[in-house]
Amino acid sequence: MVNMEQRTLTSEAPEQLTPELEAFIAEWKPKPGNLIMVLHRVQEHFGYVPRSAAFQVADLLEIPLAKVYGVLTFYHFFKLKKPGRFRFAVCLGTACYLKGGADLIQELENMLGVGLNTVTEDGNFSVEAVRCLGCCGLAPVLSVNGTMHGALRKEDIAGILAEYKAKARPEA
Ligand code: FES
Repeated sequence: MVNMEQRTLTSEAPEQLTPELEAFIAEWKPKPGNLIMVLHRVQEHFGYVPRSAAFQVADLLEIPLAKVYGVLTFYHFFKLKKPGRFRFAVCLGTACYLKGGADLIQELENMLGVGLNTVTEDGNFSVEAVRCLGCCGLAPVLSVNGTMHGALRKEDIAGILAEYKAKARPEA
């Protein structure tokens, strides 16, 4: 069982697994490879794997928390930090890289004042590099919460950012 004191050591507001996630875990519990499948689903739901969810996964699969974190830290795919409300994902697959994907990242970093894989202080924006998004014909591509912006030049970033800043909360 999980040590309750450990749970209180985190400053992150606990994210609770939904009944759907719990049912998914129950379904996968007896199957091989269940931990990775479950963590994928948790990340799909929250956009990352919250610490509180990692505890719950360990509880429900009846495995040590260290095993859960072993997988989470081994695979770079898993994110342990909450992304921004608007998640700017720049493709650095071959086509996008060759057409200036890295320049888009640099422009976003400059304009937002954050580095790669970090979140603005207000929690609104995060920047990350991702692998091929499957629309190489539109290279270079930027996805914002799954909405694709293609054939971009770094000069286009200011306009896109302004569009999302208009929707952002003053304080997230
Ligand atoms: S390389 Fe960027 S979408 Fe394929």
